[in-house]
Amino acid sequence: MIRGQHLLGMRDVPADTIYGILDTARGFKEISRRTIKKVPSLRGRTVLNVFYEASTRTRVSFELAGKRLSADGVNISASGSSTSTAKGESLLDMAQTLDAMQADAVIIRHGQSGAPHYLADRIGARVINAGDGQHEHPTQALLDLMTIRERFEKLEGLDVALIGDIRHSRVARSNLIAMKTLGMNVRVAGPATLIPNELCDVYGCVRCDTVEQAMEGAHVVMSLRLQRERMVSGLLPSLREYAIEYGINAKMLEKTRNEAILMHPGPVNRGVELAADVVDGPRSVILNQVENGVAVRCAVLYLILGGEQP
Ligand code: CP
Repeated sequence: MIRGQHLLGMRDVPADTIYGILDTARGFKEISRRTIKKVPSLRGRTVLNVFYEASTRTRVSFELAGKRLSADGVNISASGSSTSTAKGESLLDMAQTLDAMQADAVIIRHGQSGAPHYLADRIGARVINAGDGQHEHPTQALLDLMTIRERFEKLEGLDVALIGDIRHSRVARSNLIAMKTLGMNVRVAGPATLIPNELCDVYGCVRCDTVEQAMEGAHVVMSLRLQRERMVSGLLPSLREYAIEYGINAKMLEKTRNEAILMHPGPVNRGVELAADVVDGPRSVILNQVENGVAVRCAVLYLILGGEQP
């Protein structure tokens, strides 16, 4: 299905491949809930996790996925002083050095959009994008789709409200691409400064004037983290004003369908993007997203590296 390929973004991933990954992930979720969570599928394969940016969910879930598949994993925090990046080594030199050690897969998170694509053209290992700048975060979109599918089963035709900092969000971009591929209807809302003008022409979404409009009758509400580390100054008046205008609370969720779910890729700025009561409320599937992250990353590693049946 995606055996032997890179996973750099959702643009070239057709619907049947997405469904194949989600079906495979379902099996790995069942394995993750067993007392003994390990299968031998990737025994003898080498997986490198190279993270140039901070991460809790993605890094830990890729590490766990590799362990659960019995791969040999090495985890590298390239942003600190533990690698030769601190001595000025370039991304390419570091990747080629690691590749020379016969890695089968390199999972990379990097602040520069396009860094995984750059490596994919230059090293022998399969490259998996764990988030590149403002560009894409494909495994996040896949785990989000898995979470939505667990509630609604049929993804085509679902109404999704995507709220907040869309401009800087690689999570939004990967979801917009994948949801269009699957025939889902996406409405976006947020500060004008955080929604690119061309967004809806490119991704086929509908832009709403208010958060309430976007949420009206939605099956899924996906709130996005304010990516303050990527913002130039002047894009937001203040966090307090953002929370008042665009923060989601329990009253606003009443606009959605009765069975609607509330998602957030994490980490959540409580009291800013989401009121605390909805983060922990009955509609929240934020921790389901985290659990599904391990299953999806197991499926992606397994399918790309061509392991045996789990
Ligand atoms: N959703 C996500 O990418 O979270 P982390 O930054 O913790 O990996």
